[in-house]
Amino acid sequence: MPFEIRAIEPDEIGDLLLADQRAFGSPPSLAERERSWTEAELSRTRAAFDGGEAVGVSRNYSFQLTLPGGHAIPAAAVSWVGVQPTYRRRGVLTQLMGALHDDAREHGEPVAMLTASESSIYGRFGYGVAAWRVGVSADAARITFRSDTSAGHIRLVLRDEAEKRLPAIYEALRLSRAGLVTRPDYWWPSVFWDQLGGADKAFFTAIHTNTAGVDDGYVAYDISGSWHNGIPDRRATVWDLVTADDEARAALWRYVFGLDLVDTVVAVHVPIDDPLRHLVTDGRRIRIDYVNDGLWLAPLDPAQLLAARGYTVEGRLVIETAAPDGTVTRVELDGGPAGATCGSTTREPDITCTSATLGACAIGGNRWSELAQAGLVDARDRATLVRADTMFMTTPAPALLTSF
Ligand SMILES: CC(C)(COP(=O)(O)OP(=O)(O)OC[C@H]1O[C@@H](n2cnc3c(N)ncnc32)[C@H](O)[C@@H]1OP(=O)(O)O)[C@@H](O)C(=O)NCCC(=O)NCCS
Repeated sequence: MPFEIRAIEPDEIGDLLLADQRAFGSPPSLAERERSWTEAELSRTRAAFDGGEAVGVSRNYSFQLTLPGGHAIPAAAVSWVGVQPTYRRRGVLTQLMGALHDDAREHGEPVAMLTASESSIYGRFGYGVAAWRVGVSADAARITFRSDTSAGHIRLVLRDEAEKRLPAIYEALRLSRAGLVTRPDYWWPSVFWDQLGGADKAFFTAIHTNTAGVDDGYVAYDISGSWHNGIPDRRATVWDLVTADDEARAALWRYVFGLDLVDTVVAVHVPIDDPLRHLVTDGRRIRIDYVNDGLWLAPLDPAQLLAARGYTVEGRLVIETAAPDGTVTRVELDGGPAGATCGSTTREPDITCTSATLGACAIGGNRWSELAQAGLVDARDRATLVRADTMFMTTPAPALLTSF
């Protein structure tokens, strides 16, 4: 039986928080902290109701997604997906995803995107992993940097100053790498300061300033752990290292590895092409703990999405995709570094795949040839795959640095 699906009203925020808390099994205190992320864009929430009770919740936020070539497009940032344990496996999520995608289309967003708490769910709804997220760790005592070339300086700042400076530093980076997304004003208080930071954590923000006096990078980290028999067993966890500048990046890495009374440095959200391993004398000491799904993309309008990005080399491709509801879209792409055109065609396809696989390849985070080896792409021939790979790959590698 279909559930009533509608947006949450301002006086129903308590129901939204309760459903979310029950779905994720979180303590109630989490629901009571910073509210900016909760209260933003309520009209884009979609909740499932049964007899007046919100039994499943979800929402879109209005973000921008950076594509190869440095263009950003409107993208629906899907979040808060949760169904109360007593209503699972009755199709609530399926209904919610349909409503979210309808809402995204109404807002003119050619793509929906998300980060997944559970990675096995979203392929069926047309999402592919478009950018990978690497987790690294290292024993600080084993790490020596090859050189110290930074002439800039680093200063620790309190929240007041960080609130003024960090968003601008992130914004300066945002268009420089595919996969990066906007961080709206309502993102910072709840997600950065509350979820990443948190009043009960030893959470620090340090800004790098270059020789021209420009703040060009920052690192946000916390320190956790304890002492055993007088010896510190403590780790620094890097949550957010943001800079578009190579020198600042090297300086910020050196800074966290140089922290006293810390024996392990852990970093999450590291781009797959981060130079850390090359900055140190013994790259093997930088352990790769995981390579996880970071950004998931569902193309809702393949032609619009493909036309909006730049391509590494000039080329033409006819791509046919099948969406989860069976809709087949065949488009002809004519793209290059300066831009692209893309529209429907009746020509024979060069590449055939699902819309989820297109999501995986759309911003260059995976090679078409790699997915073809997995049986996820049918291509005319090997040369077609090489052409597609060469067109779609991008530098720097796509990455997502933002939780949402
Ligand atoms: C994950 C969750 C949202 C699924 O909601 P739901 O209403 O039970 O999902 P549906 O009944 O619409 O199921 C849709 C399909 O996804 C599958 N599915 C649902 N949850 C799944 C899971 N955790 N792992 C694998 N498959 C899952 C279902 O089996 C079903 O497959 P089918 O169409 O082949 O039968 C819900 O279980 C939940 O809230 N979990 C905890 C919070 C969470 O993980 N949220 C996701 C955050 S990214």
